[in-house]
Amino acid sequence: MSMSQAANLAEKAMGHKDNAITEQNMTNPARDRAKYGDESETMKALAWMGKNDVQVIDTPKPKIIEDRDVILKVTGSTICGSDLHLLHGAVIQLQKGDILGHEFCGRVESMGPGVKGLEIGQRVVASFQIACGDCMYCKKKLSSQCERTNSNSTEHMMYGGNTAGMFGYSHFTGGFAGGQAEYVRVPLGDVNLLKLPDDVPDEKGLYLSDVLATSWNCVVDTGVKEGDVVAIWGAGPIGEMAAEMSFTQGAARVIMIDGGPAAWRLDFCKEKMPKIETIDYTKLPRGTSVVSKLKEMEHGGPDVALECVAGEYAKGWAHYFEMLLGVETDTSEIVNEMIESVKNYGRCGITGVYVGYTNHFNIGSLMERGIRLIGNGQAPVHLYWEQLLQMIREGKTDPYKMLTHRVKVEEMDEVYKTYDARGDHMQKVFVQTRFSDPPAEGSPALKTFKS
Ligand SMILES: NC(=O)c1ccc[n+]([C@@H]2O[C@H](COP(=O)([O-])OP(=O)(O)OC[C@H]3O[C@@H](n4cnc5c(N)ncnc54)[C@H](O)[C@@H]3O)[C@@H](O)[C@H]2O)c1
Ligand SMILES: [Zn+2]
Ligand SMILES: [Zn+2]
Repeated sequence: MSMSQAANLAEKAMGHKDNAITEQNMTNPARDRAKYGDESETMKALAWMGKNDVQVIDTPKPKIIEDRDVILKVTGSTICGSDLHLLHGAVIQLQKGDILGHEFCGRVESMGPGVKGLEIGQRVVASFQIACGDCMYCKKKLSSQCERTNSNSTEHMMYGGNTAGMFGYSHFTGGFAGGQAEYVRVPLGDVNLLKLPDDVPDEKGLYLSDVLATSWNCVVDTGVKEGDVVAIWGAGPIGEMAAEMSFTQGAARVIMIDGGPAAWRLDFCKEKMPKIETIDYTKLPRGTSVVSKLKEMEHGGPDVALECVAGEYAKGWAHYFEMLLGVETDTSEIVNEMIESVKNYGRCGITGVYVGYTNHFNIGSLMERGIRLIGNGQAPVHLYWEQLLQMIREGKTDPYKMLTHRVKVEEMDEVYKTYDARGDHMQKVFVQTRFSDPPAEGSPALKTFKS
């Protein structure tokens, strides 16, 4: 039995908590057509069918089931590094047929009578988390930790507290159908949608859902400040935008680390931001480690280390087998490199996804050298998205730096394969649907994988 199946059974045995104010475990309208589906129309959607298996399916369009629901015609979505954790089965409690996708924008197609401040046809972007808007955390705009949108008991037991519900991110985070689809239901739509102004095209506004807020949270929550030397593990979209935003915060130097099939991303980021310095960890000479290389590049090491990779990617055999055998869920290799490489009293922030427990953690270096290790959390999008929208409008952050592809939602399964393989120099994708506008000026032209 897979970990996911075992966790589903445990959840069933324990039962859900009773805190959620919105329907849980509605990950595909086909699960209960009469209750959740609008049979007048079917839609294309990307569904998880099993470990390393996702497929584009036809399924009923979602319908309004609660007063504050908004149904969106999706005009843009994408794939995130977090979707790979679902694809690989690293995140638990997925079920066959779950619709994925937590970053999307669209137009309001219909809404429940309780939705205030939106109109039919309004262009909006959704936050990847679903927040209630008025619990203890939501009052502080810490929307990713909302207390009322996720009643999953397994998460509560494993973590000692719950995160908010999230779109397309397994039953572990409430079980909500995602936006890699032509339509999506947004619960509490008046809270979880931000209006997009006419001067911000979907190809830029979409990324307020997640990447921009996540990279910004990584940088400001870890406390990057004027003059800092910042090392970033992972040159994917999150790492790339964290590099841009570290410079915005006054970083003196940014050193990015990546390698293997994604080594091209180091050159890609450097091309966009020539000040970036890079380390290909797969090409270091014998006897040189990432830690020793960083100490060589900067006396004492960087001031700040940012983790934009994830805990599922083992470097050595020991952690590979420990994870395979279920002795740990996440490798400590990258976190140890971060702790060991920063200056004494340096800061380390973890934004890449870690699921559970890790072995061989260097707590000694952390304690003796006064390292500040910060879990950045799932990024609280609502705290930042208005400010980030303004930054896009003023050209202070530019999502086009990472945007390499435009594809059709019908070919989303191919996108998963290519993105997973780090192929076709795919950094960040814009996924169009039949409801999308033509490509905005300066954004990539459509690419098709299937002829
Ligand atoms: N906290 C949040 O709110 C939040 C939100 C979005 C994404 N994330 C997470 O952030 C992480 C990065 O996201 P992304 O979209 O850029 O993902 P991605 O998968 O595209 O990029 C990860 C990069 O890390 C590199 N990598 C792998 N092993 C490495 C190692 N040992 N050293 C250095 N680099 C290594 C990979 O080659 C890849 O280029 C993912 O774990 C994602 O789930 C977190
Ligand atoms: Zn994401
Ligand atoms: Zn809340």
